[in-house]
Amino acid sequence: MIKSRTQVGIVGAGPAGLMLGHLLHREGIDSVILEDRSQEYVVERVRAGVLEQGTVDLMRESGVGDRLDDVGMRHEGIYIRFAGARHRIDMAGLTGGRAITIYGQNEVVKDLITARVASGRPLHFEVSDVSVHELNTRAPVVRFRHDGAAHEVACDIVAGCDGSHGVCRSSIPPAHLEVFEREYPFAWLGILASAPPASDELVYSLSDRGFALFSMRSPAITRLYLQCAPDEDVSEWSDDRIWSELTARLRTDDGWEPNVGPILQKGVTPMRSFVAEPMRYGRLFLAGDAAHIVPPTGAKGLNLAMADVWRLATAIADFCRTGGKTRLDEYSDRGVRRTWRAQRFSWWMTSMLHRDDRATPFDHRRQLAELDYLVSSRAAMTSLAENYVGTPFD
Ligand code: FAD
Ligand code: PHB
Repeated sequence: MIKSRTQVGIVGAGPAGLMLGHLLHREGIDSVILEDRSQEYVVERVRAGVLEQGTVDLMRESGVGDRLDDVGMRHEGIYIRFAGARHRIDMAGLTGGRAITIYGQNEVVKDLITARVASGRPLHFEVSDVSVHELNTRAPVVRFRHDGAAHEVACDIVAGCDGSHGVCRSSIPPAHLEVFEREYPFAWLGILASAPPASDELVYSLSDRGFALFSMRSPAITRLYLQCAPDEDVSEWSDDRIWSELTARLRTDDGWEPNVGPILQKGVTPMRSFVAEPMRYGRLFLAGDAAHIVPPTGAKGLNLAMADVWRLATAIADFCRTGGKTRLDEYSDRGVRRTWRAQRFSWWMTSMLHRDDRATPFDHRRQLAELDYLVSSRAAMTSLAENYVGTPFD
């Protein structure tokens, strides 16, 4: 067993773990980041695309915003489409100039890996058998295997940034954790297509055939999603079928429709709301998807993860500098409160925009009335806009 020591043991090299390691490094705090997948897998995984203003500010202020400033696409509005028409919500105008930026999660991860490598601090991919121990003591440890050898790292703090299926949350004794969950009776089939975006802003659509979302990654790449069954078999979706369904759900009466092109990637994403409380057990702190999952309709998952690790890094820095535990002790309560606000928003966007097969004609009419109210009331649009661009990190 190879033994070593660090200040913070970070499990998971997704956006949460990598940003945490980066922020700690800037405070002069040492960490070890452990990831069980390969670097290629982590960098190529197609996931989120919408960065809130707070995430953009954090990347810039912490020195990893150069590529984001070069190629990120700032969007000041979004469209809501229903009953054959698109309605624009002027997010910047309604929130005093706040906006979102389209920049793929894999680009964020790439930038953070570059910064980590430049820092010279350890980041290990393809580790196995990760386990966390002695969490309720002042000397937690992380064990793992790497390149055929067993390792044990003694830490002051362990950060569980290992996503929804990681080992950290499941290492907390069940009596110390309360879990809140909601499953949705649908999923998203998502594609990446080599086609120039036909709209310069995102389009969220409810049609009689179900939900569809028009998004993008660059001036040449469109990203689109359509509501499907949770157990949808992606092999039953030929490219032609996907395009005809997307077009039917997104087309507007004035003739707008997405541009069609070769499909580069497709996959099905299930939808779930999940919150684990508290986000802490002894010296183990959970951040990002390890602590909470939101359905993607509100585009909140990555942004919640960034807000978590910003608060956690600040709290750890305080603790390492002064020994003060106040911010560490507040970490979970603040995070849980912010999480529930994002949960509420994501649930609201999801229920407003999806077709539920169990819904009655009354429910459907009510859903259309809600959309009609949303796009005709400045108060309602402001409520959507301020949640969508994101509330302050603290
Ligand atoms: P993850 O990205 O899951 O990272 C956790 C890491 O830990 C992974 O790399 C994993 O391999 C690793 N790991 C797991 N177990 C272990 C172990 N035992 N040992 C070591 N490592 C381990 N969010 C948004 O904000 N906006 C969006 O537009 C958006 N769109 C989305 C679209 C889709 C299709 C999907 C699937 C998600 C979307 N999300 C969006 C959500 C967002 O992608 C996640 O919330 C985000 O990845 C959370 O980051 P994380 O670092 O907490 O977790
Ligand atoms: C995306 O571009 O991948 C995306 C955009 C908005 C969402 C979810 C995903 O709500």
